[in-house]
Amino acid sequence: MIPFFWLILLAHIRWVNTADLANVPTSHVLNIFILAGQSNMSGRGGVVNHGQNGMVNETWDGVIPPECQSNLNILKLNAGFQWVEAQEPLHQDIDLGKVCGVGPGMSFANSVLKRDPNIGVIGLVPCAIGGTNISEWARGGVLYNHMIRRTEAALQGGGKLQGLLWYQGESDTQSLEDAKLYRFRLKRLFKNVLHDLQSPSLPVIQVALASSLGPYMEQIRKAQVGINLPNVRTVDAKGLPVGMDYVHITTLAQVQLGQMLADAFLQTQTTQAVLLPVDQTVTSNAPKCCSNFVLDLLSSPFR
Ligand SMILES: *[C@@H]1O[C@H](CO)[C@@H](O)[C@H](O)[C@H]1NC(C)=O
Ligand SMILES: *[C@@H]1O[C@H](CO)[C@@H](O)[C@H](O)[C@H]1NC(C)=O
Ligand SMILES: *[C@@H]1O[C@H](CO)[C@@H](O)[C@H](O)[C@H]1NC(C)=O
Repeated sequence: MIPFFWLILLAHIRWVNTADLANVPTSHVLNIFILAGQSNMSGRGGVVNHGQNGMVNETWDGVIPPECQSNLNILKLNAGFQWVEAQEPLHQDIDLGKVCGVGPGMSFANSVLKRDPNIGVIGLVPCAIGGTNISEWARGGVLYNHMIRRTEAALQGGGKLQGLLWYQGESDTQSLEDAKLYRFRLKRLFKNVLHDLQSPSLPVIQVALASSLGPYMEQIRKAQVGINLPNVRTVDAKGLPVGMDYVHITTLAQVQLGQMLADAFLQTQTTQAVLLPVDQTVTSNAPKCCSNFVLDLLSSPFR
């Protein structure tokens, strides 16, 4: 007969790979955030294409604005499941095969620390992969499993899961079928994450897409803004400048987005006791001068 003690222990061993956990030292990480979605979350700020005649030759300009500087209080879980000091480009070892640049993560973390200096160390868990559609993020798929596994590993060192930051949707703007199914798929994804991480009240801060290469951006946007889950907050990318590639938001836009995400997160902290209003949209105060949509009409083939 298996002793009762072992039964209890077995019940607590979930599908986290123990080999991964061995690498995670007990750290002082107190506030854990998942970063997921596609390239704008991964970060392409400052990535420039030097290729000519349709050739792609991308490099990152290496510019790290003050808002995105490393800080001893900001760690990230690297691809080897170790906590390391976080630095741009945050997703370089995760979003492989791409030239990564500045994303919203560092600006978000610095902004949270600035506004709530007593919050403690922040641990970022980068999981975003450029070019991915929402079906690829479905439960049971590689991306979903990777995200859950990394998050569970991150939590082994102690600390609290504080939020999921999600920026995705562009890849689903190409077909009407995908656009129609987006609301259902997005809602199911968030519900599954909250369930599988046993964090039913985890704040989810998502970014509403402001323009796209595909024709069905409005459907995706409607699905994002109209999602009625109590934990979900939405910040709007409308007005954030898109870069020279017409596909990704710029470094400065990422700085601003990180601050918007921080605002939205800190709001969930102050209103935690009451039921969060559904569909809270924090609007960008970015200049509304130029519509990204117009820029997209001129869009280039690079992603
Ligand atoms: C890519 O662009 C960089 C920067 O202009 C240049 O130094 C490099 O030689 C280029 N590489 C190729 C393969 O064209
Ligand atoms: C999502 O992307 C995968 C991989 O690129 C592709 O096979 C699949 O058809 C896409 N699914 C949808 C619904 O767009
Ligand atoms: C990045 O975000 C901007 C602003 O929402 C959007 O116009 C663009 O299509 C996005 N790009 C990708 C590849 O998701």
